[in-house]
Amino acid sequence: MTPEVQGHSGCLIKVVNDGNNLFVLKGTTDPGYFNRLVAQARKQQAASEVAYQHIRVPRIHSVEQTAEQVVVKMDYVYSKNFVEHFENSGFEQIDYFTRALIYFVEKELERSPVQTVPSKVVTDKFADVYRKVMRNPALAEDAQVAAIMERSEIVMKSLDNLDIPVGQCHGDLTFSNILFNGNNYFLIDFLDSFIESPMLDLVKIRQDSAHRWSQLMFTRKFDQVRLRIICDYIDRIIDGHFSKYTWYRDYYLPLQILNFLRILQYAHNEEVISYLKRELSDLLQLPDKL
Ligand SMILES: Nc1ncnc2c1ncn2[C@@H]1O[C@H](COP(=O)(O)OP(=O)(O)O)[C@@H](O)[C@H]1O
Ligand SMILES: [Mg+2]
Repeated sequence: MTPEVQGHSGCLIKVVNDGNNLFVLKGTTDPGYFNRLVAQARKQQAASEVAYQHIRVPRIHSVEQTAEQVVVKMDYVYSKNFVEHFENSGFEQIDYFTRALIYFVEKELERSPVQTVPSKVVTDKFADVYRKVMRNPALAEDAQVAAIMERSEIVMKSLDNLDIPVGQCHGDLTFSNILFNGNNYFLIDFLDSFIESPMLDLVKIRQDSAHRWSQLMFTRKFDQVRLRIICDYIDRIIDGHFSKYTWYRDYYLPLQILNFLRILQYAHNEEVISYLKRELSDLLQLPDKL
């Protein structure tokens, strides 16, 4: 199996047959990534024990760590990726999927009471991102990036302490981390987040539904118009549903800006950088080109 949806982690994904059952081995030999992969497996394991409507999580069977590598063994999910699924879905199925996402986040919200997160958590994160952007040679001399950072700094500094739900989140809930099997959706690639908030899952969902990030990463040709219509549709429903929450209305924008900046800080690919500059300029209401 060669996955069409490429992740960023550089982990190796292998499908193995063990006693007539198929498993996925996700492994890394990068010691800098060991802790992250172990934490990811723990988070996925915990989520696989919760019952969600239509949302499932592949069960983790083992996490093996040696001096050379970490290998996580989980259930193999026979599935389609989001592009294959969206290309073959009518609006009824898209509605079903959107509702499943809403149920999932609502369930997280039940376990995530609104708490006060000091604004420093966000401004410290922003300061760290700022330093990394300035150290990235592909960004440091770019005038548009400079304008983006300047405007973002104003947004981040204007934040008071944040009253947002804290407790549970997937951590990287883009469409590329959802495997589609009919009307069941399997979540993979969990990630520790700097604030464990369902709010950040909404930010990640909308990174795709509003900003179509995962399509940028997709390696084969697909029906862009159809995907655009479907994403816009999903986005309208998600945004409409969660707009009833004050924390969503107040913090979605600054947290989405921070989310894109966190991708920007490590970006090297020219196409990805132009995409990020365009989306960030849009969110910050800056002209597209200086
Ligand atoms: N449990 C699984 N069952 C089937 N395919 C999987 C499974 N886990 C991962 N994959 C495949 O590997 C791809 C990358 O997996 P992912 O965990 O998202 O890696 P990365 O951290 O690199 O993003 C997925 O898009 C999917 O195609
Ligand atoms: Mg992934």
